[in-house]
Amino acid sequence: MSYILIIGAKSDIAKEVARVYAKNGYNFYLAARESSSLEDLKQDITLRSGVEVVLKEFDITDFASHESFYGSLEEKPLGVIVVSGYMAEQKSAQKEWSETLQTINVNYTGAVSILNIIANDFEKERRGFIVGVSSVAGDRGRKANYIYGSAKAAFSAYLSGLRNRLYESGVQVLTVKPGFVHTKMTEHLDLPPKLTATPNEVAEDIFNAQQKGRNVLYTKPIWMVIMLIIKHIPEFLFKKMSI
Ligand SMILES: NC(=O)c1ccc[n+]([C@@H]2O[C@H](COP(=O)([O-])OP(=O)(O)OC[C@H]3O[C@@H](n4cnc5c(N)ncnc54)[C@H](OP(=O)(O)O)[C@@H]3O)[C@@H](O)[C@H]2O)c1
Repeated sequence: MSYILIIGAKSDIAKEVARVYAKNGYNFYLAARESSSLEDLKQDITLRSGVEVVLKEFDITDFASHESFYGSLEEKPLGVIVVSGYMAEQKSAQKEWSETLQTINVNYTGAVSILNIIANDFEKERRGFIVGVSSVAGDRGRKANYIYGSAKAAFSAYLSGLRNRLYESGVQVLTVKPGFVHTKMTEHLDLPPKLTATPNEVAEDIFNAQQKGRNVLYTKPIWMVIMLIIKHIPEFLFKKMSI
């Protein structure tokens, strides 16, 4: 069976994505910083699903390493799923440039760096799929998290252009826009239960949307309606609001 490359494989969402694809027989490259800490997940997936799991060391902000990283994959993957992300606390990002830069580099620049390389290969081979986990935060800048949101907005725009470019080559590009998800990233936040998904729900939604060849996925689906409303609030009102 084909390999799937998961970038940012230590993420709570990524681990569930790996389990869902494994149930369906795919092999994996799990790429992460300190990837050896994924040994337990590797054992568990191998035992349950009998698929191949290869751990790969990868830092999405180490742009110079991306070409050789992709070159080192013996069998090229059928699909890549970029899940890595970094959400700095908005107030500290406003004050500390290093936090802003890390937010931009993890969520946008690094993803573009590795996907440029992979997209060229998939386009040449005329096959494959690319899934990018962006966020509803990228749909409209809000004072509560516009530094993270603007990096995700750039990533969503990049994926939209990539989908348009790769359409003729038969390469699928799926943009994933989660709303709230219970993960390490949000454990300090008090999230409304009805609007908050589990990593497993997000993973199942990603698998189903990718297999159906969809373009954009909001998960939970209610977020599509919420963001439609938020995007249509006139700017003269929106700038006075705290949402
Ligand atoms: N949770 C939510 O409510 C929510 C909502 C919308 C979108 N998202 C997006 O969903 C994705 C997954 O996030 P999550 O909720 O599962 O949070 P998470 O568990 O905190 O996962 C984020 C992952 O990104 C990895 N990462 C950060 N910097 C990296 C780097 N330089 N190189 C490689 N990997 C790096 C982290 O790796 P380390 O473990 O090594 O730090 C971590 O495993 C992210 O793109 C996030 O922005 C989440």
